[in-house]
Order: sequence, then structure tokens, then C-alpha cells
Amino acid sequence: MSDKNKRRSFPDWEKLYKEEPVEKMPWFNPELDRDLSGALKDLRIKGGRALDIGTGPGTQAFRLSEMGFEVTATDISKSAIRKARKAAKEKGLEIDFRVDDVLATKLSGAFDFIFDRGCFHVLPPEKRAVYRDTVAGLLNEGGYLLLKCFSVRETKMQGGPYRFTRKALKEALGGAFRAVSIKDTVYQGTLDALPKALFSIWVRK
Ligand SMILES: C[S@@+](CC[C@H](N)C(=O)[O-])C[C@H]1O[C@@H](n2cnc3c(N)ncnc32)[C@H](O)[C@@H]1O
Repeated sequence: MSDKNKRRSFPDWEKLYKEEPVEKMPWFNPELDRDLSGALKDLRIKGGRALDIGTGPGTQAFRLSEMGFEVTATDISKSAIRKARKAAKEKGLEIDFRVDDVLATKLSGAFDFIFDRGCFHVLPPEKRAVYRDTVAGLLNEGGYLLLKCFSVRETKMQGGPYRFTRKALKEALGGAFRAVSIKDTVYQGTLDALPKALFSIWVRK
């Protein structure tokens, strides 16, 4: 089996967020993700309802809320949500933080855009269709999915998330979405060598 197709294993998310400071996590980025920022400008999205799926430390939700978006942010880990909620309160931000599994969501839409920085690429491959249909169902007509995931060009890191080509992304999401753009980028965080990533913009078909 080629490396990009092999089964990957992930931490117990709840244990991780319960035991570790979020600032030490490889994906921790206190700034607004640069690709998200660019996409919001390019798409002229200035307000509305945003959903951050797999929010983890919640930093992207904080920045979006500061920009004036009405933000809902979810994670499967209770401890992640507890910590993010506390940090938001300290910053005086009103964000609807919820414990929610994107593969069995209790949310209902409709959101103007959904941001996913690192949740999709840790899901089991056989669940990607559930993810696709769930996310499509949570978006407004004309709403966007803004997705950052690891690229197959990331070959230095051992283990970690699933890697994607443009073709694999289209196969996974194309049943419900049209790709607006897919570009090579990096995944900003705490690692010295930033992992190679793809940032893609999708509109509901
Ligand atoms: C790589 S981290 C990225 C965290 C955050 N988006 C960021 O950029 O800082 C992936 C996140 O997805 C969450 N996650 C994993 N599986 C999930 C699921 N089925 N539903 C919701 N969140 C999930 C994990 O708890 C973790 O916080």
C-alpha cells in the first residue's frame, strides 16, 4: 500500500486537549489563517454566519468573531471546547462553542461559510461522504466551504493527517461541491518546518 493510502492513526482528541496546553499543539496558530484571510477578501465575504469545524484551540473562531462574523465553532473534544469557551470569555467574544462530531452532527444550518482547518484530513477515508453531505447540508445556497488539509507534497513528516491531491479532494467532495480553487500552501502552526498543505474553496452545487 502506498504511503498516502495507508491507514493513519490519531490521538485520543479528548485526552490530548485535557492534558496538553493548546499553545504547544502543532496546529496552534493565534493569527487568522492567511489563506482564510485571502479567501474572505477574494470572495468579498464581509459578514454573516460562519462555522469553524474542529475548532480545537478556537483561535480561528476568535479572529473571525473579532472581524464581526457571527461564529459557531465545534469540536469533538469536550476539553477543547471548554478551554476555547473560557479563552473567548476572557477576550469578551461571543461565540457559540459546541461539542459536536461532524460525522453525527446535531447542528442545523444555515451558514454563509464553513471553515475547516485540519478536521477533514483526520477523518477516516470511508467517512468522507458523510462529511461532504453534512457540510453541504449546513451551508446556505451559494455558501462556501473553505478547507485546509495536508498535501501529498508533505513527505517529510512521519505519520500525521491524511495527504491529498487535487484529484482526491475532487473525488471526495465533488458529489456535492464545485471546486472554485485549490492552491498549494502551508499549514501554519508551531512546527519549524511548516507542513505542505492544500487550501481549497468550494461552492455547493
Ligand atoms: C489538526 S486539529 C485542528 C484544530 C483547529 N482547526 C486549528 O486549526 O487550530 C483537528 C481538530 O479536529 C477535531 N476533530 C477530530 N475529529 C472530529 C470530528 N469527528 N468532529 C469534530 N471535530 C473533530 C480534533 O479534536 C482537533 O481539534
